[in-house]
Amino acid sequence: MPVNVCQQLNNTKSLDKESYVSSLLSQMTLREKIGQMSQFNNDNEKLTASIKMGDVGSVINEVNFETINELQRIASQESRLGIPLLVGRDVIHGFNTIFPIPLGQAASWSTEIVESCATIAAIEAANNGVNWTFAPMIDISRDPRWGRIAESLGEDPYLCSVLGSAMVKGFQGENLSDSTSIAACAKHFAGYGASESGRDYNTTNIPENELRNVYLPPFKALADAGVSTFMASFSDLNGVPVTGNSWLLNDILREEWQYTGFVVSDWESITQLITHGFCADTESAAFEACQAGVDMEMASNTYAKNLPSLIQNNKVNIEQIDIMVSRILTLKFDLGLFENPYTRATPAVERLDSFHLDAAKQAATKSCVLLKNNIQTLPLSKTELTSLAVIGPLADDGYEQLGTWVFDAKPNQSITCLNAIKSHVGDSVEVKFSKGLATSRSHNQDGFIEATQLAHSADVAVLILGEEAILSGEAHCRSNIDLPGCQEQLINAIYETGTPIILVIMAGRPITLEKILPKVDAVLFAWHPGTMAGPAIADLLFGETSPSGKLPVTFPRSVGQIPLYYGQKNTGRPPCDATFVDINDIEVRAPQTSLGMTSTHLDTHFSPLFPFGFGLSYTQFEYENINISRHVITMGEFVEITATISNVGYFDAEEIVQLYIRDLVGSVTRPIKELKGFQRIFLPAGQSKSVLFKIHTDELAFYDRQMKRTTEPGLFNAWISSNSDTGLKTEFEVV
Ligand code: BGC
Repeated sequence: MPVNVCQQLNNTKSLDKESYVSSLLSQMTLREKIGQMSQFNNDNEKLTASIKMGDVGSVINEVNFETINELQRIASQESRLGIPLLVGRDVIHGFNTIFPIPLGQAASWSTEIVESCATIAAIEAANNGVNWTFAPMIDISRDPRWGRIAESLGEDPYLCSVLGSAMVKGFQGENLSDSTSIAACAKHFAGYGASESGRDYNTTNIPENELRNVYLPPFKALADAGVSTFMASFSDLNGVPVTGNSWLLNDILREEWQYTGFVVSDWESITQLITHGFCADTESAAFEACQAGVDMEMASNTYAKNLPSLIQNNKVNIEQIDIMVSRILTLKFDLGLFENPYTRATPAVERLDSFHLDAAKQAATKSCVLLKNNIQTLPLSKTELTSLAVIGPLADDGYEQLGTWVFDAKPNQSITCLNAIKSHVGDSVEVKFSKGLATSRSHNQDGFIEATQLAHSADVAVLILGEEAILSGEAHCRSNIDLPGCQEQLINAIYETGTPIILVIMAGRPITLEKILPKVDAVLFAWHPGTMAGPAIADLLFGETSPSGKLPVTFPRSVGQIPLYYGQKNTGRPPCDATFVDINDIEVRAPQTSLGMTSTHLDTHFSPLFPFGFGLSYTQFEYENINISRHVITMGEFVEITATISNVGYFDAEEIVQLYIRDLVGSVTRPIKELKGFQRIFLPAGQSKSVLFKIHTDELAFYDRQMKRTTEPGLFNAWISSNSDTGLKTEFEVV
């Protein structure tokens, strides 16, 4: 068999990456170049033949390792050049072992947790032949109606940047060429989270200043962290869909940020340029996307069909194509695919690895957020209980606890809350179970009779409610974010029995809980916790460990408050309790001026139900003695802020200590608070610790009116606190 071009190059051991890629490129036909820019779905009937012809650079959605190895064999041995394939898959929060949804992982505020989930996901995916994931999704998400908030790291640019970078590190490992590393993808560049009304794929209108200060920082952080690829968003950004947006992809990503990885389109987002009304036909769509800098086309084939004639007619120049193809080949080189394209797979494991399961339990444990705990409701004590009623459609469903994006999961190996609670208490407590409702969406209340009977005869009722997996994720948006179906009625029915209620919620987004909060004694918000939901939740309920997660997103009282996030601007008439008027307190025919004249709604309080950063513990933490190294800092220097945190309760626990600042006056108005640091600390009961945050004046920078990133001199407030709504305050001046 003749030796192909890649095999020849592989034999030339001395070739460095640049020389390898340029030698290869110099031997490619135009068709082969466009082939590298094309990603095929695995169900494409022409896949094998097209790989042989050199028409395919990447395959998406194939996960059978034998099939992948065969496709790699065809690519590297039967195509003229022998270029191996990128094999892409949405490995979003685990592959076979499922970790909490990304929003849940974000609630851990732990880079270690987020990194370890991604490391394990990469090991399992790579084992199956996948070498590229479309994660992390770092779209700032401030609208809980949007189904994809589940896949996000929440509302805050700083938290999202730090955790997103940790996720990239987990996927990509120390070295991309390691057999356990896979390439990551920063998506969806940019602004997708601002889809109007939280309806997926909807238009976004984001002023440039807001874009730069809020939506772009996580992407910049991931570019700096070496993320291999970017994905262009589906969405229309200020009238120019991102897939055809040269300003965003060329001017910002390439020119300003000097990003050298490659950009993939989203699924058929190039052809959707036509649907958007931005292009008339596929030729113009291919032209716009290519000019904008989309290096690889996902799923559709406008490049293959139109780039040859666009180049022939001098509309697109070949030098540009060469640069785009080089970026793709460079990633293949970095992944070590030219040396060995095959997965080192051991045949697919039947049982999930126990080390992976431990990590999944740990992640789920640290992701749960305790929102309410009436005195001594939690933790439960198995010695004091005789019977427990476990109720709810999500209590014993190994699939629904996994959440969105779990194509490769093994739901039959999930451990549910019911099973975990039973094995936790053994024979010492009688555990009775009733679903109450068939699914989280059910309206049929026939099951209430049994459920209330069980609750009536039990010491405590643990209700496991929320949203089944299908209710969040891509294109799974809601206009009402109450508990769906008749779950509120179920809570009301159990409440009538007088038995204390512990509510555990599994959901892909914040849920509006204001109405039901008074009816329940404790609320543990667990997101979709993944494979090990049960053991994690059982440990928390029975006090093996204290809840320690904090909200990565604000919980509104009602959908009408959306968008509601902690980093809002002050407005000229900020709301306050002194002037707040409730709709029920308005005098009949009151003069307009009596209603406070501040930025509020009449029919709900202006505060959120739970603020960003909020989460209770089984212990109490006291914050004292805020100290600042100096009150006047010169530009270019650091300031150190410390506070003493004490565990004044009786439970050893972890606390997430947060640092916020406020820039009091800016040439562009600044948010009322901005997260600038956080630390997850462990404090045994009775102990104290001084926590130090060091902050450089560069970290106070923002984009000004000229879109220049700058730190402006002036006064700042700073808080060290347990959530965004409280804290010990100090101040300093930058000169
Ligand atoms: C999503 C992307 C995803 C891609 C491939 C699209 O519909 O928007 O996030 O990576 O499909 O599955």
